[in-house]
Amino acid sequence: MDTYGIIGWPVAHSLSPAMHNAAFKSLGIRAVYGLLPLAPENLAEGIKGIRALNIKGVSVTVPHKETVMPLLDEIDPVASEIGAVNTIVNKDGRLLGFNTDWIGVKKALEEKIAISGQKAVVVGAGGAAKAVVYALIKEGASVAIYNRTFEKAKRLAQTLGGVALPWEELASASGDILIQTTSVGLKEDKSPVPKEVLSRFKLVMDIVYQPLKTRLLREAEEAGCETIDGLSMLVYQGIEQFYLWFGARPQASLMREAAEKELL
Ligand code: ATR
Repeated sequence: MDTYGIIGWPVAHSLSPAMHNAAFKSLGIRAVYGLLPLAPENLAEGIKGIRALNIKGVSVTVPHKETVMPLLDEIDPVASEIGAVNTIVNKDGRLLGFNTDWIGVKKALEEKIAISGQKAVVVGAGGAAKAVVYALIKEGASVAIYNRTFEKAKRLAQTLGGVALPWEELASASGDILIQTTSVGLKEDKSPVPKEVLSRFKLVMDIVYQPLKTRLLREAEEAGCETIDGLSMLVYQGIEQFYLWFGARPQASLMREAAEKELL
């Protein structure tokens, strides 16, 4: 029986144990996936612990996605380019870092739209925006990044591509796809995007999934847009993570149902 888990701080409300354990059960894999709460000041010790305990695979979440990188034995070139790791594979004692968040974004979008050639607007330039911008650029969309702190948008555009635009100009934004990556709307009924903007887009995606129907998504539906909720990206990044560990992909519906149950 092998052990898997998620490091983060805080991590108590993570949906990943429910998703991965459901997949283990359905695919007959003898393994267990648990919470590994790890405070930032203990990160290096925690990584040693993963080695000592021979934990076979680890999901990495906030605030460790960047700081974990120098502590691993090898970083996949894509994770290196994005500048964040969300998956660790323990290969015979060597800890390898990968990023599956960008695939989560790509797969979530591809359920609804062909990404290539679309004009995308990304709201936010924090950790979560990195995989979003990478996926959009890699799949051939054009990207405009709006962030409250302009400098951060500029830095993101310089490293991954796209153009940075001032936050005040979000009210006059237009395009095909809008993706919300800030923490606004998380456990609060707020949206960082002025309502009038939404009808100028075909598709609106929020990466916040608590609540599942954020104010942004409700307003986008009212404006006649297609919408993608935050669970979609979470599920697909989890599927790719599972694939890195086991070489098989669980069904999206199975993982999604397991995650939704936890949200109730
Ligand atoms: P994460 O890893 O979840 O992206 P983060 O790196 O702290 O977390 O980034 C949070 C994002 O939400 C940032 O883009 C942040 O904007 P700043 O760069 O200006 O801080 C954005 N954000 C948080 N609160 C916000 C608010 N009230 N209005 C607008 N943007 C906000």
